[in-house]
Amino acid sequence: MEFTTRFGVIAASVGSAVGLGNIWRFPYEAGEHGGGAFLLIYCLFILIIGLPVITAEFIIGRSSRSNVYGAFKHTTGKRSVWRSFGLFALLGAAMILGFYSVVAGWTGHYVVSSLCNFNGASTTDELHTDFGNFIASWEAVGWTLAFILVNFLIMRRGVQKGIEKMSNMFMPLLFVILLVFCVHSLMMSGASQGLEFLFKPDFSEITPQVMLGAMGQAFFSLSIGLGCMLTYASYFSNNTKLLNSAGIIAGLDTLVAVLAGIIIFPAVFSFGASPAEGPALVFEVLPSIFLDMEWGMLWSVLFFVLLLLASLTSTISLNEIIIAYLTDEKKMGRTKATAITTGVIAVLAVGCSLSFGPLSGYTLCGKTIFDLCNFCSSNLIMPLGGILFSIYVGWHMKRGAVNAQLRGTSRVFVAMLIFCLRYVAPICIAVVFLSGLGLLN
Ligand code: TRP
Repeated sequence: MEFTTRFGVIAASVGSAVGLGNIWRFPYEAGEHGGGAFLLIYCLFILIIGLPVITAEFIIGRSSRSNVYGAFKHTTGKRSVWRSFGLFALLGAAMILGFYSVVAGWTGHYVVSSLCNFNGASTTDELHTDFGNFIASWEAVGWTLAFILVNFLIMRRGVQKGIEKMSNMFMPLLFVILLVFCVHSLMMSGASQGLEFLFKPDFSEITPQVMLGAMGQAFFSLSIGLGCMLTYASYFSNNTKLLNSAGIIAGLDTLVAVLAGIIIFPAVFSFGASPAEGPALVFEVLPSIFLDMEWGMLWSVLFFVLLLLASLTSTISLNEIIIAYLTDEKKMGRTKATAITTGVIAVLAVGCSLSFGPLSGYTLCGKTIFDLCNFCSSNLIMPLGGILFSIYVGWHMKRGAVNAQLRGTSRVFVAMLIFCLRYVAPICIAVVFLSGLGLLN
């Protein structure tokens, strides 16, 4: 398989990057971590860490034309750190799929519940209670499993291409309706308060945990650190300009996240909700916005369907990391590889879903199963992957091989990229990582 058009390359990678991470995870992470300060650091990290690492993954993927484990096979020794990390990355991908499927399941439920006008709930408080009851229920587990089943059917048949095509049509539509919602939010009573929260950094809010959260979000949102972009790049054609594509992907991805923030925070303050609500934030606030809009039901259904599609292109890319490994390295048939992946994810996902209900008491370091999958993948495994990929391209790969992948890119940019990969990215990631975990005092 190889992406043939420039648009195909960008669209598939943007499809992977843009998803629940932008619209659900970004607002609640920003809300929990001080708003403006978080956004500022987030943008900085996208520039000095995200952009170099995504390009590094592209370089490794296209030069090796292999999966995250196989990519290091020919160039490094048998028991190298890089190869062992490949296996770790598979675990990270499975963890993300575990909790991501739960949130995608909530989205599916909201498509239906939009049609019933959110069961008659009209105030943010009522929506809050309804949503709390829903996510604790077995119904939520059912939605999660349904979403996983759809993924299974798509992956088994290898019809990702069809889905990608469909999402190429619908993603721009998602973008347009986000703009419409922005305009609506900006006219709400709490607009100025919301914008101030999102855009005015309070530097006293910047703590190591805020930095770790922002870095984890940058990795999560750009789909980097687990070899997802690496796997996709192994399908790129030799003419694709890697740094340019990385820039476009990072730019669009950040734009969508900021738009989501502009939609959510004015509403949060207008409806008297708290920005630090956690994973439920967006799901409690969005319906309030829709109920407030003319033709609200229509907007609501359209939005949640598009969000579901955006999630699907993201989970396809995550599934692809694991399935590419199983089919290439373990020489498994596609169906078997897909079935095994789906089985593992289903078990994890049920645990994640129930951690809002019957399993809410099962915690480690105060984190439920859902929180653990979320935290460990974004704040532990992905940053580690980021360090390794940067060092691999910056120090380990032959300069000639790197340059060959960057042909056509201006020399200044190449020099800046290499500098970031050698020093800036690995050192920043390591410092933020260690201090965020409280290991640097
Ligand atoms: N970036 C996606 C989002 O924002 C999630 C995602 C897809 C991802 N593929 C990934 C995250 C690979 C990490 C690694 O919704």
